[in-house]
Amino acid sequence: MTAIHNERGAVSKDTMTLAVKKDTTSLALQKEATPLVVLDNLAVTFHTFAGPVSAVRGVSLTVQPGEVVGLVGESGCGKSVTLQSLMGLLPTDRATVTVDSLLVQGEECKQYSEAQWRQLRGTTIAMVFQDPMTALNPILAIGTQLKESLRLGAKRHNDTIADEEAAALELLTKVGIADAKRRLTQYPHELSGGMRQRVVIAMALAGRPTLLLADEPTTALDVTTEAQILLLLKELVKTEHMGLLIISHNLRVIAQLCDRMSVMYAGQVVETGTVEDLLGKPQHPYLKGLLGSLPTSATTTLQAIGGQPPDMFSLPKGCAFHPRCKQAMRVCAREMPSLTEGVRCWLQAEKKAVNV
Ligand SMILES: Nc1ncnc2c1ncn2[C@@H]1O[C@H](COP(=O)(O)OP(=O)(O)OP(=O)(O)O)[C@@H](O)[C@H]1O
Ligand code: SF4
Ligand SMILES: [Mg+2]
Repeated sequence: MTAIHNERGAVSKDTMTLAVKKDTTSLALQKEATPLVVLDNLAVTFHTFAGPVSAVRGVSLTVQPGEVVGLVGESGCGKSVTLQSLMGLLPTDRATVTVDSLLVQGEECKQYSEAQWRQLRGTTIAMVFQDPMTALNPILAIGTQLKESLRLGAKRHNDTIADEEAAALELLTKVGIADAKRRLTQYPHELSGGMRQRVVIAMALAGRPTLLLADEPTTALDVTTEAQILLLLKELVKTEHMGLLIISHNLRVIAQLCDRMSVMYAGQVVETGTVEDLLGKPQHPYLKGLLGSLPTSATTTLQAIGGQPPDMFSLPKGCAFHPRCKQAMRVCAREMPSLTEGVRCWLQAEKKAVNV
């Protein structure tokens, strides 16, 4: 039996049963607060020399204060593009971006200018990327870079920092770096991968963001360091009262860290809900396939999802998963199912019709 564990209990995919102790108090509080972000019906089409690519097709999501939301799906399904849209980072000269609404802490941002986005980036919303070296300057000492981030953060919050050295030390200590004083004088190449990622997280925290976006922040790390960084992120969400939206290929990472998750396929959300529900009782055939392809102690052969990932230049009509779906029906190749009770599948629509 495979059991994917999160801190509320074991989510068993074989028995589809859960041993979950839900924290109903914090869920109730989250519902009352203004969401950190509400993205409604995002569509992104890139215009390339090879033709248009429909990278994102009607994605909606929300993150509440104190909540960790995961985004999963195979390579090229539109996860990073979705995250980039929340930071106003999409190249609008090469892409058509439409969205019904993008609320950041209750404020509509869909018409924001680049100057307005700059004000939000790093302060209200900060991003941690997969490779820490892309976020760090290799020729500047860690301390110099941290102090620069602190100054920028303070300026955007309209205040000043009395003692930059002390503030930088405090940040490094907060992200679990020992011997912080010495580390401030070192250069990125002198630190391990895990330590570099901690520094990047510290730089993200320097702007005192309320929402942290993380695009596969642990993929480049070994398993032990990955676990430490995930624990750190989880702690920071609690202590800094932030929200976290994290992309990962790894369902075990999502199970350990997240409260809710969305599964993407070919630019769309195909299933969304609590981690307990999705990993314990998956509904969409693609998610069932993903869970079936996880190695388990009892597995002799892995159950790979058959067929090829979709060609984003020429998506199939109807449900984009139909050429690979063992449960496909005639309607699946004809019409796209809508998201019904968190699941984008004709089987779900049928189930609902029977229950009405
Ligand atoms: N700047 C761009 N110009 C053209 N196409 C792009 C651009 N950025 C992304 N795409 C395309 O949009 C689609 C979604 O890309 P995205 O980076 O969001 O995938 P992803 O789900 O993050 O994949 P991965 O897991 O590999 O990171 C892909 O087909 C990609 O080739
Ligand atoms: S809509 Fe049809 S093809 Fe798509 S996942 Fe559901 S059953 Fe499979
Ligand atoms: Mg990506």
